[in-house]
Parts: sequence; structure tokens; C-alpha cells
Amino acid sequence: MSMSDRGTWGSRVGFVLAGAGSAVGLGNIWGFPTRVGENGGAAFVLVYLVCVIFICLPIMIAELAIGRRTQSDPVGAYAKLRPGTRWWMAGGLGVAAGFGVLSFYSVVAGWALAYIWFSASGAVSGDAVESATFFTDFTSHAPSSLFFTFVMLAATAGIILGGIRAGIERVSKLLMPVLAILLIVLAWHASTLPGAAEGLAYYLKPDFSKMMSFGALNAALGQAFFSLSLGLGTMLVYGSYLTKREGIAKSAIMVVALDTSLALLAGFVIFPSGFSIPGFDPTSTGPGLIFMVLPRLFATLPGGQFFGAAFFILLALAALTSAISLLEVPVAHFIDSHGWSRKRAVVIVTTATFALAVPSALAMGASSFFSDLPGIGMDFQSLMITVWNDFALPIGGLITAIFVGYVWRIDSALEELLAEQAWFPNPKLWGWMVRYACPLAIFVIIFMNIRSMIV
Ligand code: TRP
Repeated sequence: MSMSDRGTWGSRVGFVLAGAGSAVGLGNIWGFPTRVGENGGAAFVLVYLVCVIFICLPIMIAELAIGRRTQSDPVGAYAKLRPGTRWWMAGGLGVAAGFGVLSFYSVVAGWALAYIWFSASGAVSGDAVESATFFTDFTSHAPSSLFFTFVMLAATAGIILGGIRAGIERVSKLLMPVLAILLIVLAWHASTLPGAAEGLAYYLKPDFSKMMSFGALNAALGQAFFSLSLGLGTMLVYGSYLTKREGIAKSAIMVVALDTSLALLAGFVIFPSGFSIPGFDPTSTGPGLIFMVLPRLFATLPGGQFFGAAFFILLALAALTSAISLLEVPVAHFIDSHGWSRKRAVVIVTTATFALAVPSALAMGASSFFSDLPGIGMDFQSLMITVWNDFALPIGGLITAIFVGYVWRIDSALEELLAEQAWFPNPKLWGWMVRYACPLAIFVIIFMNIRSMIV
């Protein structure tokens, strides 16, 4: 189908802008600092960067190449390149992961939305202990967490349906630079707080005396896929809107660089502010980290209520542009492969996602069952993060690499990548990474992690 039939893109939006709009979101500002905190700081940051550059970048190029060649949704894309085989199931995993990721994503996006109001009104105090209690009280109150989750999902669905997508994309053009500037200002200010040096050391000075667990390696890998919107077909769908004029390699590098810079910047805000709180322990705050630490940072700034509200507005908008790209994968699938109308696809997929979001929204204390699943030893939201981020996305990437490396084959992919003399630095190296290095690394990390969970 042509671009206009599928009706998904504001026509003049460049890929880099759209790709960055998808990639930059909660993954950078909430997910990255949270996982750095949970997994011990600087060594994790280093491993994360290695995963981004050596595993994710080559796979992003592969995903974009499939998308641009086939011009369809993930299921249709594999089916087109290998008709009559079961390869379409690779796309099917992505469609399922789109639901799965969005289900917990919309819960956290709802927190960001609520914090716009909490910051502007001064409801959340600058006192570290009080702001931690405030977060716990808020997230354990079922009606409010369900309400904000619902609003975020409805807004996402509304944008995809309402044809105001081009407008949102224009907003996201402004969003990136403003978000970057605000983060720089906040990082600068955070570095002047007492205890900041300790926070920076935690963030930047790896402690090689401690061996990293396979769980932490797997978390870094999953986080890299999550932050880059990789492994479930978002980039495949977005690649279908790349024109031949925009080189794939250059576009991918720009999206990766932008996304990674914003994640790193977020760490420069969170850790110095966190360590300025006496007795701060980054491993124990969990998903509430940024919501517990930031109110105190804002309270130390002149005009803190304004800065706080502005920050959470930007975060909610960034989450929204990412959520759109998540919902788009299953929606595009039901339109392209099953002939559903756009409206039907959006309504049904969003309703199903909300149903799966409910237990995640209740997992922070509102329901004792979902907050500590019997026999599993974690809450429902953490279970979703483990299943979808840490396993489904890297496995999706692994399958993409194997497909491109051995089935579609490197030569055919390079034909697409090098079309119209596009800039592509080292085709041989890329082929080698996609065939050998990436699949092997992903397999070993996931296999060893699962083994360490069992024994
Ligand atoms: N990358 C986005 C973020 O960091 C989330 C996201 C959007 C995503 N589309 C995705 C994650 C596809 C995985 C796959 O917030």
C-alpha cells in the first residue's frame, strides 16, 4: 500500500525526527537512570554503551532495511520477503511485544502526566522522605493510577485516529531541543548540590572489582533495545517511510546518537541530585527513582514549581510520541494484514492494551496480589518489564539478525542499504556483525541469564 493509504505519516516529517520521536521517551529519562541505579552505576553504563553501539546499531540498520524494502507492517514484511514460510511469525512476536510494552509504558506515562499537576500545584514536597511517601501513596491508590493510565492510552489512540499526528510530529521537533536544554540546566544545577560528587562518581567511575551478573548484562541489553525502539518492528514500520534519499546508515546513527545523549544527560541529572539526599540508596528506589528524587531538585531551584511542571510536560509529551509508535505496530498489522479499518484496529488494540495495563497499574501496592505475584517473587509490572524488555525485544533483534544474515542474506540487504550511492562506512563489517557478533552476543547473554535464574 502507498504511504497515503496507510495514512500514518505527516508527509514532510523526516525520518530522523520521527525516529527520534519514537526512541526518546520514558526509556531515556525514567528507564535508564532506574536501571543504572538498580544495577550498580558506572559499570552498567559502560556495558549499556557497548550494547548500543555494537549490538543495537547494526540491528537497527537491519530493521530499517527490511522496512524500506517491504513497505509494510512487520508480519507482512517477513511474509513478503519469504512468502509461504513461517517467517511471518517473527513479525507476530513484534506485534505481541507492541501490546506488552505499551501496557506498562502507559502506566509510567500516566505517572509523568500526574506529576505535571503535582509539581505545578506544589502537592509534592521538596522533602526527600515526604516525596518518596507521596509517590508510594499515589501509585498504590488504584483509581488514580488507573485514571492516568487510561488518559495516556486514550490520548495515544486519539492522536493515531484523529489525524492530528502531523501536528504532534511538529511538536516533537521542538520537544527534543527544549528537553535537551532543560536537562542540561538541571544537570548543571544538580552538580552544585552537596553530595553531587559522590553521585557523579557512582555514575561515571566503574568499579571493576565487582563482577557483573548476567542479570545486569541482560538488563543493559534489554534497556538498549527498549530505549532505541528496537526489536519489535517499530523501526521496521518507520523504515517503510524512509525515502531512498535519506541514507539508512546515517539516519540510524543520528537516532542512536540523539537517544543515547539524552539518556546519558538524564543520568547527570538524577545521580547528583539523588546522592545529595542523605542516606540515598539508588538500588532500593525501583521504578519510583526519578519521581522521588526530582521534586527535591526542583525545590532547590528558584521557580521550582514552574521547572517541575515544565519538565513533566516534556516527559509526558516525549512518552506520548513513543507510545504512538508502539501502538502503531499492532495497528498497522491489523490494517495491512487483516484489512481492518483504522478505527476498528485502534479501538480494539487500545482496549486490549488497557486490559493488560490494569494489573501493571495495580502492581505498586494497590493490589497485594499483583504487587507480589505468588511464586514469582516480583510484582506484575516488573514481570512485564522482564518478559517484554529483557527477553522479547532482544530475542526479536536476534531473529531480525538471523533473518537478514542467513535468509534474506547480507547481499540483498546491502543492495537496499547502498541504493542510490548511499553513504555506508563498512558494509563488510556490518555483515559480519549481523551474521555472527550480534546473534551470538544476544544468545549468550540471554541464555546465561536464564540459566542463572534457574540454578
Ligand atoms: N523507545 C521508547 C522510549 O525510550 C519506547 C518505545 C517506543 C519502544 N517504541 C518502541 C520500545 C518499540 C521498544 C520497542 O521511551
